[in-house]
Amino acid sequence: YTLRPMRTIILGSGKGTNTKALLDAAIQNQLGATEIVAIYSDVAGSGILEVAQSHEVAFRHINANPTTAKLSGKDEQAWIEALSADNPDLIVLAGFMKILQKPILDCFPNSIINIHPSLLPSFKGLGSIENAYKLGVKITGCTIHWVNTEIDGGKIIAQAPVRIMEGDDLEMVAARIHAAEHMLLPWVVSDLSLGNIPFPE
Ligand code: GAR
Repeated sequence: YTLRPMRTIILGSGKGTNTKALLDAAIQNQLGATEIVAIYSDVAGSGILEVAQSHEVAFRHINANPTTAKLSGKDEQAWIEALSADNPDLIVLAGFMKILQKPILDCFPNSIINIHPSLLPSFKGLGSIENAYKLGVKITGCTIHWVNTEIDGGKIIAQAPVRIMEGDDLEMVAARIHAAEHMLLPWVVSDLSLGNIPFPE
């Protein structure tokens, strides 16, 4: 690539299937000019850290008070230090279950994206897949958006629709949404790295 590599950090708290999709895309040269420099989790022993380890990417558990939803205080500072040291162009929240507040957002302006398992602005927050299913909507999906101080409220970058059909159970819907996420996230990251999707001014 003649493009400068887009230094990318992934943050997550869970299984890491989206992270695996990104790393697999990178192996297949389908992540454009993206360079995944590190993967961090607030949950020790989480799947995402195992995914990082098996792909030989730098990874680390960084503490975050498990009793609060927001990342704040000393924990927040530790995250800011770790992330700053990597000099990222892009930070991907891939199942990161902590809320980022202004201090951390101000350190990385216009460079944090999140993947969310609904068609935003519908079904913000936790339990989106189940809430959509229980309400009986016929189309749901996933969204990738820029992160700002509003929870799941930043500018939308891309979405993929998923149908909910008669007779589907919750697990089937969830599996379909995850499959859509695993396609959409690598596309978006690749397009950001190639300049096909612009970073905000
Ligand atoms: C994904 O479905 C993602 O959309 C969701 O967590 C899952 C992480 O899965 N994110 C949120 O709910 C954010 N509020 P993964 O760890 O297997 O990638």
